[in-house]
Amino acid sequence: MGQTVAVTTVDRARLADARAVEERRFVELHPRSAEFASSARTHLLAGVPMPWMVRWPGSYPLVVDRAHGARFVDVDGIEYVDFCLGDTGAMTGHASESVAEAVSAQSRRGLTTMLPSADAGEVASNLARRFGLAKWQFCLSATDANRFVLRFARHLQRRPRVVVHDWCYHGTVDETLVVLDAKGRTVSRPGAVGPQVDPSVTTRAVPFNDLAALDAALAHGDVAVVLIEPALTNIGIVLPEDGYLDGVREVTRRHGVLLAIDETHTICAGPGGCTAKWGLEPDFLVIGKTIGGGVPVAAYGMSDDVASRIEASTGADDIDVSGVGGTLSGSALAMAAMRATLESSLTAEQFAVAEPLAERWTRGVADAVAAHGLDWHVQRLGCRAEYWFSAPPRNGAQAAAAVDHDLEAFLHLWALNRGVLLTPFHNMALMSPMHSTADVDRHTDVFGAALAAIVAR
Ligand SMILES: Cc1ncc(COP(=O)(O)O)c(C=O)c1O
Repeated sequence: MGQTVAVTTVDRARLADARAVEERRFVELHPRSAEFASSARTHLLAGVPMPWMVRWPGSYPLVVDRAHGARFVDVDGIEYVDFCLGDTGAMTGHASESVAEAVSAQSRRGLTTMLPSADAGEVASNLARRFGLAKWQFCLSATDANRFVLRFARHLQRRPRVVVHDWCYHGTVDETLVVLDAKGRTVSRPGAVGPQVDPSVTTRAVPFNDLAALDAALAHGDVAVVLIEPALTNIGIVLPEDGYLDGVREVTRRHGVLLAIDETHTICAGPGGCTAKWGLEPDFLVIGKTIGGGVPVAAYGMSDDVASRIEASTGADDIDVSGVGGTLSGSALAMAAMRATLESSLTAEQFAVAEPLAERWTRGVADAVAAHGLDWHVQRLGCRAEYWFSAPPRNGAQAAAAVDHDLEAFLHLWALNRGVLLTPFHNMALMSPMHSTADVDRHTDVFGAALAAIVAR
């Protein structure tokens, strides 16, 4: 960090005024998006194709005209530096040439037949090399991959429950939409609608970085699998403390519980995610989003031992109704997109470009924070970085307590109005080899100016 002056705070009155100015500016800048947003309300729930798209800053979501590399252009003709990258879905860059060619070629040769295409084995080999797991399966989303892993794990272990981290996010998987309440009970996370059953029936949540809690949760003898991100990324980046992940593996093995690692976001740590980087030894591994270069695909890998047990215990005659499925999963389109992405992207050479950009972004934000005397913090994992309005949290509950919706909304909107897009959830930026140092410095300048507009004088 740079020179720290006396700790100061955000002036809430200045923040409210500045936000109102930015809201007006957003509307002035985006008349065409406004027209689309207004007509979209006729037949789209809340005017958007997916419920969470209402989370974007501004009075209505921007409507995108086109995207390329690390940039996109909206229907008002404004270009943005994209640090969101489709919340990792476009981490390999928008409109990648190799994916466009592979998808286009496959579209002329048939997109789906329910039979394997020749690309499937190549894709599985690539994933096996990256993550060190022997056998692979494919589906349409990381949510599905997690769901299938939980199902297989319960089937193999003949145990009903799963364990996840407090404030985790693994997609819209019922068993994982949980948090711990003030009394330490596992309950539905705030905002989760229509849970199938009381989640304490299916799940025990434990705080991140708390091995004693994990040990106690597994001691009941009813847990099939522990599903974790190796670093939390969905309540901001929360890094594992020294020895935590080794401890998780030791405790799970001691209790005869399978370990599933979800690398969907933590692939930001390198070509084989945190699993390769930190030498982790999961029984299952889930990876979605980025591996299709924007085409909806996901994969889950498993150890040889787990694969043999599944093969020995699932019948051929009723495998189609096992609860693990998806008619378009593993399609020729999915395989072509994944092969093109994995063979051209997410390489060590590309991380060697993206990671220093994320370091530069982190330094820029930390220096601006220090220059304004704020006691905020910046966290980084590989090419992903994030700032906090607090000291670094050590678990999900601390991270959730540090969220400041007003501040977040203002900072996102300020950046958006100056051509910089962050993820809509918390304060995260993802760097890619398509970004430049000028892109990163632009964020630093915009961020510094935003702080100047709201800190107490
Ligand atoms: C770690 C992790 N796993 C799984 C998912 C679910 O991905 P999808 O929404 O593409 O199914 C997400 C989504 O943000 C995620 O962050």
